[in-house]
Amino acid sequence: MKEVIDSLSHNEKKILLVLKELKLATPQEILKTGGFTTMDEVMGACSWLKAKGFVEFKEEIKEYYSLDKEGEEYIKNGLPERTFVSTIIHTYPDVTTVLKFDDIRFDPDKKGIAIKWAKEKNWIEMKKNENGVVVLTLTSVAVNAIKNEIKGEDEKVLRELSVEELPEEALDAKGLAMLKKRQNVIKYREQVERTIYFTEQGQKLLEHDITVKDEISEITHETIRSGKWKDAEFRKYDINAPISVSYSGKFHPLKQMIHNIRQIFLEMGFKEVEYDYVVSCFWDMDVLFIPQDHPARDMQDTFYVEDSLPLPNKALVQRIANAHENGGNTGSKGWGQKWNSEEARKAILRTHTTVNTIRYLAENPVSPVRIFSIGRVFRREAIDSTHLPEFYQIEGIIMEEHANFNMLVGILKEFYKRIGFENVRFRPGYFPYTEPSLEVEVYFNGKWMELGGAGMFRPEVTLPLGLKHRVLAWGLGLERLAMLKFGLNDIRDLYISDIDWLRKRAI
Ligand code: PHE
Repeated sequence: MKEVIDSLSHNEKKILLVLKELKLATPQEILKTGGFTTMDEVMGACSWLKAKGFVEFKEEIKEYYSLDKEGEEYIKNGLPERTFVSTIIHTYPDVTTVLKFDDIRFDPDKKGIAIKWAKEKNWIEMKKNENGVVVLTLTSVAVNAIKNEIKGEDEKVLRELSVEELPEEALDAKGLAMLKKRQNVIKYREQVERTIYFTEQGQKLLEHDITVKDEISEITHETIRSGKWKDAEFRKYDINAPISVSYSGKFHPLKQMIHNIRQIFLEMGFKEVEYDYVVSCFWDMDVLFIPQDHPARDMQDTFYVEDSLPLPNKALVQRIANAHENGGNTGSKGWGQKWNSEEARKAILRTHTTVNTIRYLAENPVSPVRIFSIGRVFRREAIDSTHLPEFYQIEGIIMEEHANFNMLVGILKEFYKRIGFENVRFRPGYFPYTEPSLEVEVYFNGKWMELGGAGMFRPEVTLPLGLKHRVLAWGLGLERLAMLKFGLNDIRDLYISDIDWLRKRAI
């Protein structure tokens, strides 16, 4: 403890002494009683003491009241109910007179308010007489208030506020409440009031002597040349003093991961492609030999856009139609149903990035092709800890003469290894557009979680596009990988702006 005290600065010690005295103090009080010259000194030293765990700040919002427009005017002319009653008394010196309401002359703008408050304060009584005429009598309270100049609580508060702005606790509660009920009479502003007090640890410092003596906290050439250092006291270093941590700007972890994945594919000789979010069913499904009555086309699963998109050239459309209806030149029997071009024209938010790779192949049918795409896809999924309606897919294809299933498995293993996942397994899978097909899974939280699908495009997909060689294709989820990589239990955590989590991510 002794060393700790020795390592405190002059200003820090001065603050401890003030707090020892006052227990709880505002910065202003510390400034005044502690012998400081500027607020910066006070706050600087307080912050240090707080960082060291010796003091704490308490913050409270305080309301400060002052006069508003009407209030200023009432200070000059008095409250309307007072002027009203006083006018009556001066006009009708016999205070017991019963007056006809309509006979009373008073500023028409103020008459309403004046009567409302005069009644509220029990200064007047009003009723209809036997002829149905509204009549009014003054009460003794009113006569007393006017003749003896007795001011109400509200008027006292008004008077005080005309001198200076005051905090709520300095004002009479009843008077304040009355004024608050009126419009534009008083206004308030909020101010955060800080008080500083000892923590338990700070309290312990007081068991020791705290003396503020002259000591050197900074060595200058002057200190040395003058020889002052010889018998000066030096302030001790506090090697445990906390420092402020600075966080550098960096990419969002998901962006960073996309960047790394892009790098991996580029290194393996792939080229990146990207198309639009809004696509026709033709490209997203029909070209991929997804039957037109497939559940994935359901409104429950896919986001439809209120629009249709044009189909490509007639010859291609015809070949796709044939593939679906009877297999065309693909050696298949097709789905055996009439193919509907209206269905194919419908616009949707792409449901997978396979739409990108297949479109690229349709436009570039010559081998070899190695392309990839990393982009968002959209599905009407119920959101839960492993599902999002909008997520990224990592898509890729290889088309070349000797492409085979082993190569596909090899590429996927290599990819997962390069991003740090060795523990993935491949299982037989099913997609309408690939044969054979596989699913990639990873062991997570006690069960196998699907990471994506892959396979070799069927002849019903490749032949209508005029592709000569086999195509290896895959589409892998990104967010689930990210979840594993960052140790999250909920996929949604990737998209909440948790600044603390983001800051603490390693670059
Ligand atoms: N498109 C499939 C999906 O979204 C993944 C896939 C891509 C499967 C390519 C086979 C071939 O789940």
